[in-house]
Amino acid sequence: MKLIAAGFALLLGMGFFSPDNQTSFIPSGTAAADSGKQLYTTYCLSCHQASGKGVPSLNPPLAGSSWVTGDKQRLIRVVLNGLEGEDIDGETYNNVMPGHDFLTDQQLSEVLTYIRSSFGNKADAVTAAEVKAVRSAGK
Ligand code: HEC
Repeated sequence: MKLIAAGFALLLGMGFFSPDNQTSFIPSGTAAADSGKQLYTTYCLSCHQASGKGVPSLNPPLAGSSWVTGDKQRLIRVVLNGLEGEDIDGETYNNVMPGHDFLTDQQLSEVLTYIRSSFGNKADAVTAAEVKAVRSAGK
């Protein structure tokens, strides 16, 4: 009984029943979308920022980037192999994008789906099979 009361108090504390906070309890999407955001926070946010806007002359924006919303194979290759010294939508950046080939096909599909549908971007999902195909092509 004590435990139930404690659980209830915890829910109250989290604002579970507060009308102000309702929006935070509407699921933001599928489990994969949540995991994509988590992966982004862990592996990409430090450079590309929470806003996806990057850091001027260091790290390019993912928001509104044709590299993100365009050709999926090129996008998958960038994240698998990294990128350096490239002209990105008419700008150059001094930092180096590290390869992330240590992430699984599933993880990469989730983080790429996340960046394609966040920061104002509206492009379709990337599947694990698509990542696998690019990875096994070896380039
Ligand atoms: C250490 C900093 C750093 C990290 C961490 C990082 N990036 Fe990058 N990223 C860069 C830089 C710098 C470039 C541009 C490289 C160049 O100039 O050629 C870039 C380029 C890109 C591009 C292509 C250009 C564009 O702006 O669309 C994409 C897409 C991208 N990164 C996605 C990601 C994703 C997804 C992650 C996490 C899995 C990630 N990056 C992690 C620094 C980083």
